[in-house]
Amino acid sequence: NTHIVKVDKCVDNDESYQQTVDCLRNGGLVAFPTETVYGLGALATDPDATKKVFEAKGRPSDNPLIVHIGTKEEVSLYADPIPASASELMDAFWPGPLTLIFHEKPGVIAKSVTVGKGTVGLRMPDHPVALRLLRLLGGPLAAPSANRSGKPSPTKASHVAQDMDGRIPFILDGGATGVGVESTVIDMTSTPPAILRPGGITAEMIEAVIGPVRSETSAAESEAPRAPGMKYKHYSPNAPVWLIEPNGETIDNAVKSFSADSHKVAVIGPDELTTDVPDWYFATGKRADLSQLASNLYDALRACDGTAADIILAVEAPLEGMGIAVMNRLNKAADGKRYSVDKFQ
Ligand code: TXA
Ligand code: MG
Repeated sequence: NTHIVKVDKCVDNDESYQQTVDCLRNGGLVAFPTETVYGLGALATDPDATKKVFEAKGRPSDNPLIVHIGTKEEVSLYADPIPASASELMDAFWPGPLTLIFHEKPGVIAKSVTVGKGTVGLRMPDHPVALRLLRLLGGPLAAPSANRSGKPSPTKASHVAQDMDGRIPFILDGGATGVGVESTVIDMTSTPPAILRPGGITAEMIEAVIGPVRSETSAAESEAPRAPGMKYKHYSPNAPVWLIEPNGETIDNAVKSFSADSHKVAVIGPDELTTDVPDWYFATGKRADLSQLASNLYDALRACDGTAADIILAVEAPLEGMGIAVMNRLNKAADGKRYSVDKFQ
């Protein structure tokens, strides 16, 4: 059975943290909140514990895990060398939603975490629960997102419970996460550094600190994707997802043509576009507020699973700022499907 342990600002939480720290020290798994999404943590130096993460998630074993640390100083325990530009990024954005890939110091982090690539992805999360857990543990936590592989990442403890109930001993419930999409992953072992996954820290924010970077965020761009996670189907609710332009008329037409084929249609889109033609409309925030759209995206995708919808239309976000991370996740969820009027006439 999975225990959901609520950690609340107003109560004494020492005992709650202690039982999860004990669990981790004994090789168990604990789900915990970060500022991006919930993570499924195991002690990163324990090979048996980290193997359990792959089993609980149903994750392919060639997809490495991000290692979370509680202080910047710990980087030198796991990575060597530490390029000057990496130090600049850590100073600018840690704690925060940025994962840096380094060459690893051999023999410290479990092989199942780095999957023998000779590199390690490190991040210091900006969340009081994650930081307190890491500091009490006094060690590194390997933690992918706490969803079953292929499902949208969890942004609430209840999402973790949907996927992991009975599979893990503890969920630390710290409420809803903030950013809502996963950290930006940047490979600091290449010159110039390459963004492998867009996320909470945008390319412009990074370039303002260290100058030009490359973007390798689409699996199609290279035959051997550098972040193995990019090649798998991701972020998918039960029903197929179609992208659609932010135009009320196009959406109504799409819903009508799918409904005419006896489909039930859910739409995920901004507040402004609410129409009463679809069977369900999940509004994720004001169209101009890209952080809101990111924050609510996975909750909306998961909400579709609670309906009888067999088609999901997801309204496209502008390709700027956080919209880039939102569109990266939506493109993967849709697996290339985009509604256009011509196709359906
Ligand atoms: O925001 C986040 O990053 C969340 C929270 C829990 O911290 N974690 C997360 O982990 O999204 P995960 O495992 O779902 O995604 C990790 C991504 C994958 O695409 C993986 O391939 C890549 O990071 N990655 C991890 N270590 C790597 C390495 N050494 N080299 C290349 N890519 C790596
Ligand atoms: Mg994930």
